[in-house]
Amino acid sequence: MSKKTIRDIDVKGKKVLVRCDFNVPYDENRNITDNRRIVAALPTINYLLENDCKVILCSHLGRPKGEVKPEFSMDIIAKELSRLLGKEVKLAKDVVGESAKSLAENLKQGEVMLLENVRFEAGEEKNDEELSKAFASMAEIYVNDAFGTAHRAHSSTTGVASYLPAVSGFLIEKELKFLGTALENPERPFIAILGGKKVSDKIGVIEKLLEKVDVLMIGGAMAYTFFKSMGYNIGNSICEDDKLDLARELMEKAKSKNVKFMLPVDVRVSPTFEPSPVSKVVKATEIPDGWDGCDIGEETIEIYSNELQKAKTIIWNGPLGLFEFEDFAVGTRKIAESL
Ligand code: 3PG
Repeated sequence: MSKKTIRDIDVKGKKVLVRCDFNVPYDENRNITDNRRIVAALPTINYLLENDCKVILCSHLGRPKGEVKPEFSMDIIAKELSRLLGKEVKLAKDVVGESAKSLAENLKQGEVMLLENVRFEAGEEKNDEELSKAFASMAEIYVNDAFGTAHRAHSSTTGVASYLPAVSGFLIEKELKFLGTALENPERPFIAILGGKKVSDKIGVIEKLLEKVDVLMIGGAMAYTFFKSMGYNIGNSICEDDKLDLARELMEKAKSKNVKFMLPVDVRVSPTFEPSPVSKVVKATEIPDGWDGCDIGEETIEIYSNELQKAKTIIWNGPLGLFEFEDFAVGTRKIAESL
């Protein structure tokens, strides 16, 4: 899984566009509540600065869906980055417009600038060719260091890489090193915990993992598509109705590969898709009509934790419930604590 990185090419003095994942959480006053994604990008940025590069950073923040929305501005990121780097990070007023172009053209060696939220551009999520070219026109080298967004085929992650020499940054290198070792040479038992919303997002991953793991544990909203495919009532829980056959096929495949396929045996349900005083834990087979599944239940936590204690290698991709709400973060938190 090794990729060419900024260490493998001559970056000295060059103008470099770096796609980061600065999609950090922030509160209603727009204070960043966890800056770790910004901190994680520093090794790459500092390496480029040490090599006298002109550094143009870009990222998305939230999901403004192709519209300029001030609440999704990168201003808070520029401020935090300036603080962390101890130097000014100039923020463009747009993504690839006059402001961005002019700042990029006038950028000096050792200086850093940040484009506005790439998702202010409608073409970003469509991997639009013109937008990709516009990104490329600003720099001489493209660096992808956005590990958390590397699965999205967007203009700033994929498209632009066709028009510039493209390498990865140190964060991607580090993540691939760990993931590569885990996948190529895992100490067994090897367990994968899959959370998140959609089966469809992860078909490829699930199929690949079924070739490698001993146990596949499902949590998160994706579980309800599996439940429905097995004929359970899932109330109002999130479900991909057009993926029921696929869910059945994946379970069949797990069986034929001797992979233990684990689904929650109980779930916390709520009458609305948010915390409620009457939310309760029910068996996975007994989700009431009209209710939403929001987290894994206590019995599942115990079963999963016991199984995980046997593992020698674990990979885990995402939350097991609607963890944005403290009430529904219990499963994710307890599994993390048990690890
Ligand atoms: C994330 O937070 O998962 C990444 O930044 C990707 O964001 P997205 O799910 O909005 O594409």
